[in-house]
Amino acid sequence: MDSIRIVGGKRLVGAVPISGAKNAALPILAASLLADGNHVFRNVPNLRDVHTMTRLLDRLGARARYSDGCVQVELAGAIDPTAPYDLVKQMRASVLVLGPLVARCGRAVVSLPGGCAIGARPIDQHLKGLSAMGADVELRHGYVEVTVPGGRLRGADIRLDFPTHTGTENLMCAAALARGRTTLTNCAREPEVEELAHVLNKMGARIEGAGTSVISIEGVDSLHPIEHAIIPDRVEAGTFMVVAAATAGDLLLRGIAFEPLQAVIAKLREAGVGIEREDDGIRVVGSHVIVPTDVITQPHPGFPTDMQAQFMMLMCLAKGTSRITETVFENRFMHVSELNRMGADIQVNGRTATVRGVEKLQGAEVMATDLRASASLVVAGLVAEGTTYVRRVYHLDRGYEHIEKKLVQLGAQIERVPGDA
Ligand code: EPZ
Repeated sequence: MDSIRIVGGKRLVGAVPISGAKNAALPILAASLLADGNHVFRNVPNLRDVHTMTRLLDRLGARARYSDGCVQVELAGAIDPTAPYDLVKQMRASVLVLGPLVARCGRAVVSLPGGCAIGARPIDQHLKGLSAMGADVELRHGYVEVTVPGGRLRGADIRLDFPTHTGTENLMCAAALARGRTTLTNCAREPEVEELAHVLNKMGARIEGAGTSVISIEGVDSLHPIEHAIIPDRVEAGTFMVVAAATAGDLLLRGIAFEPLQAVIAKLREAGVGIEREDDGIRVVGSHVIVPTDVITQPHPGFPTDMQAQFMMLMCLAKGTSRITETVFENRFMHVSELNRMGADIQVNGRTATVRGVEKLQGAEVMATDLRASASLVVAGLVAEGTTYVRRVYHLDRGYEHIEKKLVQLGAQIERVPGDA
């Protein structure tokens, strides 16, 4: 397994291009199952999760090919609506094929995603929505078996107990081909959900209200393939904002808009970071004085849980004490013990971490446990005194495209050590 070696202490400056968004690309690739023909998606990030999704589409009977930031998906005729354990266990987001398969085939057999490092992550809301649309749902030998008597879902009023991100996406896809109107209430408002609704409407769907907590979908009889370029990744951009802040650097993040990052920008500004719009992106200027800032993670438009670990790392260097509260996932503090191994002073009590700022961090050997935790450890290595080794970087490769190359171009001393641990 590869690891990453970082020599810290460099001030990072320059421009960095932001890649396409993982959490937009995955539901959009899955949604291609809703229409026969040739789909073309551009600006698709070269990530492990994207390749897992194309392999899953192949296994289902599509022909999905990735090359140079472009994914072509060809679909024709009958497919086998079974998403097997060996693929689903590699990536929970495989569950995103559930809605499209049930809508297309009137049935689906999808391995139930198990828990993961950050929480139990059940899919009860996804299944509750499908049942409301007339599906029979059974759990058999670790698989969810969904069948629709009569073969076609019907529109329904569905109130989600929690604004689940992929749950909203799955139910939007299912409702797009249902008979009649579906109203999703208390649904997720993430930019990636809005992007999926935009793509489905380009395919011929009739969806209104995406981006708000009430989405209404008028089912149609069929959809058609499209060409589409994926939006930039707001979490990758947020991560590079923290890189600029932590290294007292000066970065231009190319190709990302302000709006999807309002909550992150507000908190970074509170922490004393300079953030300005530029014609082709966002300029972020860090300072040597970081102001302690409290954060509570919430569904969009609140502060994103996917930026919690990176922001916590920044607060390790603040002049005082900050409180970080994680409300979305029940176990998303796995990075705390690793940051403390680098000399941070963080104490966790239930869902709140109290971070007392320290003068400096020290390089150390640390272990990545999940995608965003690994990003926070890489940033910690960039500011730490001496050398840091981040082990198990396969977590990082799931969600960051060529992160070492991008950081080297900004002046970082970082390299991948193949098969080191
Ligand atoms: C999506 O996961 C993202 N993944 C996650 O990004 C992100 O952290 C999360 O949304 C929150 O923004 C993708 O888009 C592929 P949820 P998702 O359903 O949809 C509970 C990253 O780092 N819940 O909104 O799985 C659940 O347990 C990843 O890129 C239920 O109880 O998240 C959790 O506590 C990590 N029942 C909370 O809701 C359900 O049926 C939020 O989960 C569904 C969810």
